[in-house]
This record gives sequence, structure tokens and C-alpha cells, in this order.
Amino acid sequence: MIRANENYNKLQASYLFSDIAKRVETFQQNNPDTHVIRLGIGDVTRALPKAVIKGFHDGVDEMAVDATFRGYGPEQGYAFLRETIAAHDFQARGADITADEIFVSDGAKCDTGNFQELFATDIKIAIPDPVYPVYLDTNVMAGRTGEFQNGRYENIVYMDCLKENNFMPELPKEKVDLIYLCFPNNPTGATATKAQLKVWVDYARQNRALILFDAAYEAFIREDTLPRSIYEIEGAKEVAVEFRSFSKTAGFTGTRCGFTVVPKECMVFSATGEKISLHRLWHRRQSTKFNGVSYPVQRATQAVYSKEGQVQVKELIDYYLNNADIICKTIASLGLDYVGGKNSPYIWIDGQGRDSWDFFDLLLNKASVVCTPGGGFGLCGNPYIRISAFNSLENVTLAMERVRKALK
Ligand code: MLT
Repeated sequence: MIRANENYNKLQASYLFSDIAKRVETFQQNNPDTHVIRLGIGDVTRALPKAVIKGFHDGVDEMAVDATFRGYGPEQGYAFLRETIAAHDFQARGADITADEIFVSDGAKCDTGNFQELFATDIKIAIPDPVYPVYLDTNVMAGRTGEFQNGRYENIVYMDCLKENNFMPELPKEKVDLIYLCFPNNPTGATATKAQLKVWVDYARQNRALILFDAAYEAFIREDTLPRSIYEIEGAKEVAVEFRSFSKTAGFTGTRCGFTVVPKECMVFSATGEKISLHRLWHRRQSTKFNGVSYPVQRATQAVYSKEGQVQVKELIDYYLNNADIICKTIASLGLDYVGGKNSPYIWIDGQGRDSWDFFDLLLNKASVVCTPGGGFGLCGNPYIRISAFNSLENVTLAMERVRKALK
């Protein structure tokens, strides 16, 4: 008899963004003439930068000629891309990361979801609440949690991120082995200073724990004093893995490219306490289960780092940050509290006691605007909603006019 992985039965019926898409589809079917404005899932709407398109075309043209055609690429990604990333994103900021510590992939969702395979089933995991659902759900699938009871899984240490602690997770009271952090945060938009990250790095070093640091939104940081990488913190190379994505940075949600940094110093331990190289494990995992990102996509990604690419990517992000500013101003004028929207494309809005799904329905039904209900990100996500800045300026402006009318 073929048995199912019954850990899947513990999961919520469907993935948050699939749930939302279904509700929106039903609304649209019932209101076929309504122009629905989507500020829910963080999916970019603007075209790829010109420099990226040129890189893409160049890569495709090379594939059209025997002399430059490429078959399977190097497992970790082409050296031209890994070297560029290491120099630009890390060494230029004083973080000593080398090209062979970078693993190019098809995005941060897959990598943050897959990485937990490298750890024992009975480790203790600390996860922020609210949280990007992938971190939690993939650990549920792997059998690291108990049942879902009263909005939370047994055997997970939840770190409440509330207004009272400025949406900043606090060190857990009980000892944990694995810590998920994300800054600028999805969903709250909160950012972390170097001093705040240092607390976590020190904790991990003292407790032989590991930090999985999701920096998918680092390109939105505009304040120079804020760290863009956890490796800007001394000692982080021993205890942290970092995930990056070109999805929101350069409009790659449909193109797919990201990377994960696994420093060679990073160790995990056997049951008897012997050191095991995490880099070696991830390399083994990736070379067994992943065949790399396509050559044209890697060429397109390299173009993100060209002189023109950098100017164009900055302009792209500035555009979304301007949308975020418009959203923040509207929300403030309605007397609602919010966080994020600065150094982040997400605005986390306090619904003042409303259930987050009710707030979602209200905006959908009265304003034809799609947001993301905070409850979908965890118990502490109620009574919040998340509004994303990823849409055209025209749509964001119109959406905010409608929201103003609906909430007045
Ligand atoms: C989000 O809306 O939270 C993100 O777009 C989801 C993702 O990046 O997978």
C-alpha cells in the first residue's frame, strides 16, 4: 500500500496566496465589469530593465550557435555570475564572502523551503509570527511540528512580532537550534539595525544554533546605516545562511533567479557533536536535486550588476518605493497605524480590532482592492492587513482613492 506523508494533513487546506486568488476570482466572476486592483501578493508589474533584456537576448543568441551553445551548467551557477555577486553584494560592503560560497538558484522561495532538509527532524525551531508561510509549512511537511492547535503548530517556538516590540522578534526563552529571520521583513516591512542583528548572531554563536536569514527585500533599503546582509555583522559567517532574490530587486518574479550564501565556516553537528560542513551538505543536496538556472537567465542576472543595470534597477525600486509612500500617506490620513513602506515594499496596517479576513473582504467588496490578510501569516497577524506597493502608480493612486472612500 502506497502511504501518504501524513504531515501534509496538518497543513492548512491551501497555501495563503492560492486562497486569496480563489476569493478574488469568485469576486471577479460575480462582478465581471469591476476593475480589481491587486495589492496582495508581492508580484512585480513593471517590465524587466533594458540592460537585463539585452543580457537575456545575448544569452539566447549564444545558445543559437554551436560554438557558444551551453548544455548543463556548473551546479552552483556560472562563475561569471557568482564572482560578480560576491564582489558587488558582499565584498564591496566589507563582508568577506567568496564566489564559491554562493549557490545560484531559481529563487528564494525554493531555497528557504528546501534548506530545512539539511537538519535533523527533532531540532527546535524559532519562527517569527507573523511569518512568510514557506518557512513554517516546509517544516510541517518534514514532520518537525505537532498538530495545528488554536492557530499554532505544536513544537515550534513562535517569536511574537507586535507593536509593543516594534515588530522585532525577541530571543526565545527556551534554547533553539534554528532561527528564521527576514529583514526587511515580509510581511511587516520592519527593518533591523546592525545592533539588533548582532544580538541574534551572538545568540547563535553561543548556542551552536544557525540563522536562516532571508534578505529578499534588501534592495529596498535606502538608509545607509541599515545592514543589507547579515554578513555585515561580525561572526555571522560562522552561524548564518543568507537567501537573496532578484524577484523584487530586478523584476524577476516570472524570470526566476536568486541565490543562497552558505559560508564555508558554517558548521552543523552530528548527534555526538562532531562538526559537519553545511556548505558540503548544501552542495551535495543541490548537485543531486537541482540542475541549475538556465544560461540566458544567468546572463540576464549578470546584467543587473552592469553600470546601466544598476541605474535601471534603482529606478525600478524607487518607483515602487514611491507607491509605498503614497499608500503610507493615505493610511496615515485615515488615522490607521502602520509600519513598513520605508526601506520596504510592504505596508502592515493595523485594522483596529477588525478580523484581518473581514478587513480583506471589506476592501475587496467596497474598494475592489486586493490586500493580504495578516491572519494568513500567523496568529499575531490579526488584526493587520498587508498592502503591497507592487503595481503601477496609476493603479496605486486609484486604489488609495477607493480605500479612502471605503474606510471613511
Ligand atoms: C509575498 O507576497 O509574500 C511574496 O510575493 C511571496 C513570494 O515571494 O513567494
